[in-house]
Amino acid sequence: MANREFDLIVWGASGFVGVLVAEYLLARYGVGQTLRWALAGRSNSKLEDARRRLATVSRAANTLPILLADSNDSASLEAMAARTTVICTTVGPYALHGSNLVAACVAENTHYCDLSGEVHWMRRMIDLHHERAREGGTRIVHACGFDSIPSDLGAYWLQREMRRRHGVPCSAVKYRAESFKGGFSGGTIASMLNMLGEAERDSAVRSILNDPYGLNPSLAPRGQDGPERTRPEYDPDFHGWVTPFVMAPINTKVVRRSNALLDFAYGRDFRYEEATLITGGKFGFPIAAAVAGGFGLFAAAVSIRPLRELFANVLPSPGQGPSESTRETGYFTLLLLGKHPSDTRRDLRLRIRGDRDPGYGSTAKMLGESAVCLAVDALSSGGGVLTPSVAMGDALLTRLQENAGVTFTEVSV
Ligand SMILES: NC(=O)c1ccc[n+]([C@@H]2O[C@H](COP(=O)([O-])OP(=O)(O)OC[C@H]3O[C@@H](n4cnc5c(N)ncnc54)[C@H](OP(=O)(O)O)[C@@H]3O)[C@@H](O)[C@H]2O)c1
Repeated sequence: MANREFDLIVWGASGFVGVLVAEYLLARYGVGQTLRWALAGRSNSKLEDARRRLATVSRAANTLPILLADSNDSASLEAMAARTTVICTTVGPYALHGSNLVAACVAENTHYCDLSGEVHWMRRMIDLHHERAREGGTRIVHACGFDSIPSDLGAYWLQREMRRRHGVPCSAVKYRAESFKGGFSGGTIASMLNMLGEAERDSAVRSILNDPYGLNPSLAPRGQDGPERTRPEYDPDFHGWVTPFVMAPINTKVVRRSNALLDFAYGRDFRYEEATLITGGKFGFPIAAAVAGGFGLFAAAVSIRPLRELFANVLPSPGQGPSESTRETGYFTLLLLGKHPSDTRRDLRLRIRGDRDPGYGSTAKMLGESAVCLAVDALSSGGGVLTPSVAMGDALLTRLQENAGVTFTEVSV
């Protein structure tokens, strides 16, 4: 992979998140300085528009190379993959447009990262490509955005610290979404609706989505975690009510895959779960019940095809997303608890904060840093269809804190 023309290529650079990733790379790394990178997509005119917009921020963007590759043209994808160390893709829905690129990256030994939260498609990529990617030393890393980097690196951080201080892994990790502000893009909505449509048509997709260990190696032993929560519950560890968290069905499976890929370094009985934390004293329960009820109603509504089509028509379309001010004033705060197996005084607590909205401003920075990390850092991981923590671990933790406004801070119990 040495001496390729580019360190990384952003494929999908004309889309909503693709432009944000390119803006981030431009601001942080410039053009033709420490990082050799390029814009790619299927439409030259749209990519030129995107480059013109970037050039209003920094004129250096005018010299960014543009490459053309269409998801339906495998030869164009292989030619693109052969020119770079890493491809960072925001071309989604991934289940519709992503498979040929993963195949091209594995064939060309090109590292890869994306923003997929489409669990059934990630399962397909694992089954098709994990072995060959492992043999070739190629790192294929899904879920490098808000889902699932804070979850996966948060669990990794707690396990690393518990082992370093007390010589044992945490027996369980709880993740609580404490507060967040942001919005949704048309691409995210299209990906979610496509996944639900596939689940409606195909029982095998439904089984993967409903399986807490749906991303684990097929023959790996299963742990004790069960289905996602659907009801509010009082959580004495956080002195508040908890209710379902929308990203939990994705994130929990990614963290469990990390444990399996690490040969169960977190323990075979390790438990991991996520929820939204509702504080608010005596109003905590009614708020939690209302959130759980709303969540259940939304899940029921989007499982009905005509209502899905209605949502697709009224919600943002592909290419659209939260405004700059929503992204700039957005944020997220997460609290994680790592449980010592036998002594609660040794439990560890971690706060993860992001300085932009979770889904776009912060996600673009997390994906950009993942791509740079895969391209230039000396990583000890091998190849395969990996998770962010298994592929990049400490190197990505450092990058996110130094560059991307995502902080990991220990807090007192
Ligand atoms: N995990 C997370 O935290 C997270 C957060 C945000 C987004 N996402 C995911 O990221 C993905 C992108 O979201 P978005 O809002 O940026 O979507 P978007 O604005 O619709 O962008 C999609 C991109 O895909 C390109 N594309 C579509 N069909 C193509 C094809 N046949 N060949 C090559 N390129 C093609 C589009 O190119 P044109 O411009 O030429 O149409 C566009 O650049 C979605 O899957 C979304 O779910 C995940």
